[in-house]
Amino acid sequence: MTDHSHWHGRTLLLGVTGGVAAYKVADLASRWTQRGAKVRVRMTPSACKFVQPLTFEAVTRQPVTTEIWQPLGTGDRPEHIGSGDEADLFIIAPASADHLARLAQGFGDDAVCLTALAWEGPLVICPAMNDRMWRHAAVQANINTLRERGAEIIDPGVGHLACGSVGPGRLADLDVIDGRVDQILGARELS
Ligand SMILES: Cc1cc2nc3c(=O)[nH]c(=O)nc-3n(C[C@H](O)[C@H](O)[C@H](O)COP(=O)(O)O)c2cc1C
Repeated sequence: MTDHSHWHGRTLLLGVTGGVAAYKVADLASRWTQRGAKVRVRMTPSACKFVQPLTFEAVTRQPVTTEIWQPLGTGDRPEHIGSGDEADLFIIAPASADHLARLAQGFGDDAVCLTALAWEGPLVICPAMNDRMWRHAAVQANINTLRERGAEIIDPGVGHLACGSVGPGRLADLDVIDGRVDQILGARELS
């Protein structure tokens, strides 16, 4: 049986953006919670059109942030700053083409890109989109920019896409994403 002891007490930030594959990522959030990690989900307004925040709240048993404008408790720092102190990893899945552009440009006007701006730890980005979007020069330029800045990109898989095409663009296999996150957490434990 796989040893998941290094997941206990870990905190993962999970950014969900507006793509059809958002529903798949609820399964990852559930797996990671079952292994003992605290999974703190941030969703863009577009992501909330694909999957209800309640789904992520139910599988993680944690509140989900969909809004940057929230009341602050006395002495509290804004969530996008404070969350950087406690988390081991920030993973954005699915990352829409739009969001890759926002991240590459340093936008900070939703809960996902704002958290990314204030984040200095390991960042894993899992793009998912139509194959023509994935091949677009702007998308590839944004991917290169994010890689050069140190983000790890888990490339999309090839296969049937929700739009009916067959090609590159579907969210990487969940086991591939899960395996990579497992490796990163294990390595951080040793360091
Ligand atoms: C039905 C539908 C499906 C979509 N699927 C995707 C997708 O899989 N990947 C993607 O990059 N954009 C997709 N889009 C476009 C994004 O939802 C859109 O660009 C949105 O503004 C992204 O917002 P966000 O990056 O703030 O989450 C889709 C749009 C619609 C209407």
